[in-house]
Amino acid sequence: DMDDDSMDLFHPKGMKRRLPQAIIIGVRKCGTRALLAMLKLHPKIQAASDEIHFFDREENYSRGLDWYRRRMPYSFPDQITMEKSPAYFITDEVPSRIYEMDPSVKLVLIVREPTTRVISDYTQIHSHKTDKNKPHSKFEELAIQDGEVSIKFKAVRTSNYAKHFDKWLDVFPKDQIHVVDGDKLILNPVPELQKVEDFLGLDHKITYDNFYFNETRGFYCMKDDLMSKCLSESKGRPHPYIEPWILQKLHEFYRPHNARFEELVGMKFDWPQ
Ligand code: A3P
Repeated sequence: DMDDDSMDLFHPKGMKRRLPQAIIIGVRKCGTRALLAMLKLHPKIQAASDEIHFFDREENYSRGLDWYRRRMPYSFPDQITMEKSPAYFITDEVPSRIYEMDPSVKLVLIVREPTTRVISDYTQIHSHKTDKNKPHSKFEELAIQDGEVSIKFKAVRTSNYAKHFDKWLDVFPKDQIHVVDGDKLILNPVPELQKVEDFLGLDHKITYDNFYFNETRGFYCMKDDLMSKCLSESKGRPHPYIEPWILQKLHEFYRPHNARFEELVGMKFDWPQ
């Protein structure tokens, strides 16, 4: 796609690039790609395929809203444009910047059991390290210091959902942020997606017919009349074995933060106590 509006002429009448009316703001490694890909099954949703990183990166934000709009897919006037950039959730400047663009924008946050998220994050970071001669840090070396959970490890801080959520609530009313349970989205996507459809004011169009369980992948894949599609191999990576005492430490560390997060969002999660 060209990134200016010169292609408008070649699209059906009424189709153009629009600013998003709904944004998936995070959390990294909680199923942000799965959620957006599944929502795209809805005929009233158009979604940007890349992470735009508009609000969290100065070099992009400084280009202005028209640059952002031109990164969006073509849509009809009755469709909802969406994008997902998981770094938005943890970047301090982002809530007020999004509010400034559109105070009525709908925000979607997907979360997952915090300790599993740290391990998933670690697995992703480690998968990028290509230099096989340089041994990568073990999970324990990053996540634990002097026998306690280390907040020096960014992945540990990212899973403190309550702390980051506070900053969003300073700017947006709670009912403008819909929280998706990422663990449930993995096991049974349709009910979680129906709640998002309700939040976005859309009819329920995503159904069980849109999914089949792929035994090899161990995850649901998507289908409609035209296509059948699993997420890329980088989604649903095997996690390393972590010793039980480390898991225990992390569970204890997150317990009070999780309780506060449940309070803030008015939801209960099936997370370890
Ligand atoms: P793991 O690779 O740790 O299993 P994100 O897109 O935000 O990076 O999230 C990646 C996570 O999405 C994966 O983490 C995986 O568990 C989860 N996920 C949820 N539904 C999925 C699906 N249908 N197919 C593959 N991964 C899915």
